Amino acid sequence: MSQSDWRKSVVYQIYPKSFNDTTGNGEGDLKGIIEKLDYLQYLGIDYIWLTPVYESPMNDNGYDISNYYKINEKFGTIEDLETLVTEAHKRNLKVMMDIVINHTSTEHEWFKQAYADSDSEFRDYYFFKRSSDAQPPTNWESKFGGNAWKYDEKTDAYYLHLFDVTQADLNWDNPNVRHALYDIINYWIDFGVDGFRFDVINLISKGEFKNSEKIGKEFYTDGPRVHEYLHEMNEHTFGGKDLMTVGEMSSTTIEHCIKYTSPERQELSSVFNFHHLKVDYVNGEKWSNARLDFHKLKDILMEWQLGIYEGGGWNAIFWCNHDQPRVVSRFGNDSNETLRKQSAKMLATVLHMMQGTPYIYQGEEIGMTNPGFGSINQYRDIESLNAFNNMKRVGYDEDEILTILGQKSRDNSRTPVQWTNEKNAGFTTGTPWIDIPDNFDQINVKAAIEDNYSVLHTYRDLIRLRHEYDIITYGSIEPLYMEDDELFIYKRHYKDETWLVVANFSKERVSIPKDLDIEGQVMIQHGNISDGLIDGFGTIVVAQ
Ligand code: GLC
Repeated sequence: MSQSDWRKSVVYQIYPKSFNDTTGNGEGDLKGIIEKLDYLQYLGIDYIWLTPVYESPMNDNGYDISNYYKINEKFGTIEDLETLVTEAHKRNLKVMMDIVINHTSTEHEWFKQAYADSDSEFRDYYFFKRSSDAQPPTNWESKFGGNAWKYDEKTDAYYLHLFDVTQADLNWDNPNVRHALYDIINYWIDFGVDGFRFDVINLISKGEFKNSEKIGKEFYTDGPRVHEYLHEMNEHTFGGKDLMTVGEMSSTTIEHCIKYTSPERQELSSVFNFHHLKVDYVNGEKWSNARLDFHKLKDILMEWQLGIYEGGGWNAIFWCNHDQPRVVSRFGNDSNETLRKQSAKMLATVLHMMQGTPYIYQGEEIGMTNPGFGSINQYRDIESLNAFNNMKRVGYDEDEILTILGQKSRDNSRTPVQWTNEKNAGFTTGTPWIDIPDNFDQINVKAAIEDNYSVLHTYRDLIRLRHEYDIITYGSIEPLYMEDDELFIYKRHYKDETWLVVANFSKERVSIPKDLDIEGQVMIQHGNISDGLIDGFGTIVVAQ
């Protein structure tokens, strides 16, 4: 694929720890990914996004990097990664690395030196601040709970960690930090990778260090120099090269995302935002138990589709990743096989017919579900364990907490890929690092390949259509019947073509608006559509 049409591509996200284990230690590895490249080629995707595989104490499963130039030996060796890239390229698959440069692990050499010696040149690589009144420098909260500053008695100073206490924020205002980070990116470009996903990249420019009326994010989200830094990073690293980039943007705005991705500004190719995945939060609070607000979901998706398109930017579109619960359990219905398959196909179609670059998270393509863990002992994720303790402290009862974690925990998507109906779903011969849901006997890749009506075949069809028809990539979007309580309806327009998408988000058979013309060539259809009615979780895409 040439540089000009990276926009037509589809990305598949791999969370190596849960992908495929070849050593029997219960955790996936690079060799395990190499073994499955033929499968990824069969699926039809273009890029693999590899979540972090660098040396790390793994407190946040690799998002806490202690050495950007080394591979975590649990995943394999640098030679394994080389083989992975070469073998991927042979199959026309590209590889994106995950770059975590808002923070490093506190086990990174820079931090170790900064912490040990306040005169060290590395002290200013981080935010070490003193405070006069025995209070942290600001009242900002860590995204994983608690105050975002950690006190160090030895030097009577605090350091900033917007995430875990072992993930110290880097000081991008220091040019030495920025250039050291550009060296890292250039190392991976020379290594031969084809793109990058930048972790929480809109948090890198901290503004004023002041107390907040909320949790502090207004002082560092899309901060004062973020565009300048991203442009500089682009110039010094991937700019002008055949590399695709995507930035993970926390609590961002359309206005900023247009700036991040407008080609003439030379910052990034595309961006993830999360607003559409907060539609089952209560008053913005993730750790709550709520149902999907369907109108809000449609409004947000359409606002971003239109806003980014009209502003000349580029969206990355997704339902799932390693931080989100499984979409079929979340916005679809996993209570029985028929509903699970039908709703997974509907959700896939609604998303893949939109404008932007679609991301598929491992297991999503076979409609994997949340595991339904019944005990806190089954959870592994640091954010979930912190949330459990915090909710306990403020008096929630344990069953209620488990219901909330069952709906929201990041571990919902981190259970191993279900490959077969054999022991441990064919993921490992050892003991998996996290439990595998019982439903692997039915929901697994092998069964999905053999079943012509599987969710997997829908994903393959959607990818093929995107490659074949430019309207999906380049067309404009027109939202329709936004007030409808069950149906998600929109049109795509490109040159003289029009495609119509109608999707039923409810499990009931409902009527299609009488004045909507659904005639045309059927490109995709799931469920029965007749007499002006569409099946529960049914979908249709017609070229008109
Ligand atoms: C991103 C990652 C998440 C990680 C956090 C801190 O949101 O996707 O997994 O915990 O950044 O690096």
